[in-house]
Amino acid sequence: MSRNTTEKLRLGMNIDHVATVRNARGSDYPSPLRAARMAEDAGADGITAHLREDRRHISDADIDQLMEHLTVPLNFEMAATPEMQAIALRHKPHAVCIVPEKREERTTEGGLEVAREENHLAHFIAPLREAGCRVSIFIAADKPQIEAAHRIGAAVIELHTGAYCDLHAESKLAERDAELDRLRDMARYASDLGLEVHAGHGLTYDTVQPIAAIGEIRELNIGHFLIGEAIFRGLQPAIHEMRRLMDEARNG
Ligand code: PXP
Repeated sequence: MSRNTTEKLRLGMNIDHVATVRNARGSDYPSPLRAARMAEDAGADGITAHLREDRRHISDADIDQLMEHLTVPLNFEMAATPEMQAIALRHKPHAVCIVPEKREERTTEGGLEVAREENHLAHFIAPLREAGCRVSIFIAADKPQIEAAHRIGAAVIELHTGAYCDLHAESKLAERDAELDRLRDMARYASDLGLEVHAGHGLTYDTVQPIAAIGEIRELNIGHFLIGEAIFRGLQPAIHEMRRLMDEARNG
């Protein structure tokens, strides 16, 4: 049986792809900060932004503005590089999520290999923890990765829902359900170890509810689908519908 279902499931709105549209033309609009402020008003509990090494969407100036003007917490996604660590230590955002990053990938394609890089990551996150950032590690629903994230002292793991969403999109329903079972089991396993559990990547109106129903999960980070849906409904109605589906799954 799922636990922690009385806890509100938080929605972290990822605004990266507002910047993608802006950067496609090298203009100064649309503004990620404006989208973030609208998301706050629509009930997002936090804003997530990924400053990639190649700055393909969010820029350094976006992070400066978000840090200055947001009223909800910023979840700063970044690779485990010295440059990003220095930026995070300068800003001290509420949360830092460590993600793998390859220049050639279209998006964050897999979880972090924590088990293989345990020593490096333990040293990497120590100053961030000391600076008061809530450190999260983005990983696949995999026991050795969860155990390694726990050993290095991460407060949070974010489970990668990309494989589940891809299998759904490809109508591979038995495999999708097996992946969902794995996400459920690993959310419980991580929660029992004392880790806070988040999830995200690729979630849509069609895929969010089984994930939102997992009681151990405390936060979902959702971006690409909502920015696309905003073209048709507007940003705030798109967020309201996601919030409604999350609450229905959680309370139903
Ligand atoms: N969580 C993490 C760690 C991510 O890297 C991303 C994508 O940047 C997301 C959530 C959001 O994924 P999507 O944009 O597909 O909703």
